[in-house]
Amino acid sequence: MNEDYAARFACLAETVNEALPRCLPEAAGAVSEAMRYSLSIGGKRVRPVLTLEFCRVCGGAPEAAMPFALALELIHTYSLIHDDLPCMDDDAMRRGKAACHIKFGEAAALLAGDALLTQAFALAAQANELPPESRCVGALLLSRAAGAAGMIGGQELDLAYEGQAVTLAQLEDMNSKKTGALLRAACLLGCLAARAATRHVAAAKRYAAALGLLFQVTDDILDVAGDSAALGKLVGSDAANNKSTWVTLLGLEGARGYAGELAARARDALIPFGPDAAFLLWMTEWLTNRKN
Ligand code: IPE
Ligand code: IPE
Ligand code: MG
Ligand code: MG
Ligand code: MG
Repeated sequence: MNEDYAARFACLAETVNEALPRCLPEAAGAVSEAMRYSLSIGGKRVRPVLTLEFCRVCGGAPEAAMPFALALELIHTYSLIHDDLPCMDDDAMRRGKAACHIKFGEAAALLAGDALLTQAFALAAQANELPPESRCVGALLLSRAAGAAGMIGGQELDLAYEGQAVTLAQLEDMNSKKTGALLRAACLLGCLAARAATRHVAAAKRYAAALGLLFQVTDDILDVAGDSAALGKLVGSDAANNKSTWVTLLGLEGARGYAGELAARARDALIPFGPDAAFLLWMTEWLTNRKN
């Protein structure tokens, strides 16, 4: 691992960690506590870091993209809280700790997820360093990425495909929605905050299409071959739920090969950014070989 880039990632993630508790509404009670708990127990912060970095490589000031970066982490965290519920993947451990519903009960976990999602749109609306039109476009991007045609649509397919023989095209469609949509929004919101050039937006879209799939291929591999202590979540969840994954379709080695192909596609997509893309190239490599 290149230490300079690892340190830079840690520094950006820390900036996000510091800002996250401050971006929630002041409220007392179990739901508020559950929101803060799930946000504070860890998480790599890949999506907000992508937003900040795409803003930077497109010539913007990363601070301008911070409200969008935080909004994405709120939506991602909500998606994980709901993903772990008994009616979804029924997982007891998340980010190395008890899943939200194990600690606070199902009703509080459900409401904490709802409240995180809602707050994300308040952050987009209050992105004060950006003109109103950019805030509006940002909110639209978030809504499309998180909603029925994006992450939620992917989660619906994920449940529908349990125990089914699916095709490569179906798996790509499901994963580009359930995981790809928020990662794509992360890249594009960075571009939006920087008022990026059209060719940079096009490159970000190509990058995100590859990264979105790559991220879930790796997640599926880790669910089979990873280590729970490093991952912070219990392995074997997919098999227990009869999920259709990249490992069930391609086998472990096939999935690893596919991850390599997607990483190459992601690297190629970064060419238009030139040497500025060095950190994004490192992130791509790290996400391909990650252990958590
Ligand atoms: C896990 O996402 C769920 C998927 C979309 C595959 P991350 O691996 O980014 O989880 P955290 O945020 O680091 O906990
Ligand atoms: C979840 O995919 C994607 C989401 C939209 C939350 P997984 O169900 O594979 O994520 P993990 O493995 O529980 O983190
Ligand atoms: Mg799931
Ligand atoms: Mg899950
Ligand atoms: Mg998984």
